[in-house]
Amino acid sequence: MSDDFVLDVTRIRDQARQKMSEGAITPTYGLDTSRVIEVLNDVVATEVVCWLRYTRHAISAAGIDRAQVAAEFTEHAAEEMQHALRAAERISQLGGDPDFDPTTLHRRSHTEYSTAADTDLKAMLEQNLLAERIVISSYQEIARWLGDRDPTTRRLIESILEEEEEHADDLTDLLST
Ligand SMILES: [Fe+2]
Ligand SMILES: [Fe+2]
Repeated sequence: MSDDFVLDVTRIRDQARQKMSEGAITPTYGLDTSRVIEVLNDVVATEVVCWLRYTRHAISAAGIDRAQVAAEFTEHAAEEMQHALRAAERISQLGGDPDFDPTTLHRRSHTEYSTAADTDLKAMLEQNLLAERIVISSYQEIARWLGDRDPTTRRLIESILEEEEEHADDLTDLLST
């Protein structure tokens, strides 16, 4: 089989000179940026809600003297905040505005902010595991939708997804101890 890949550098150079104000977004970008920004803003909302839930649970778990669980929640909370910031940075790179509006965060989030049974460690672990399983599924679908049309955003989502899978695994270990 012959490799028929031909890179039309002349066309790419001409196109790159057009719309210079769009920065990193070139005509080879394969998606509608406004839709990608919208999807990423829902990721920002999801991550902020996850940060809030883990932070709340970390404090409650610490209060009932369960240091190991509290430490895990604190670590996850910090990672969820980093996920929110990384998604927000990508939104900005795509020419959008990251949406941290607290009045719409919960509606846009894929996961719930749940504090029920906040003295019950097992219930807390289960609520967080459920949330992780929801984000694992939704980020897998986002990664598939992005496909090869926006490899940078896809890699970002995949790298966040990898950490969510670690979170789910950590919670499963704690639930089985
Ligand atoms: Fe996350
Ligand atoms: Fe997570």
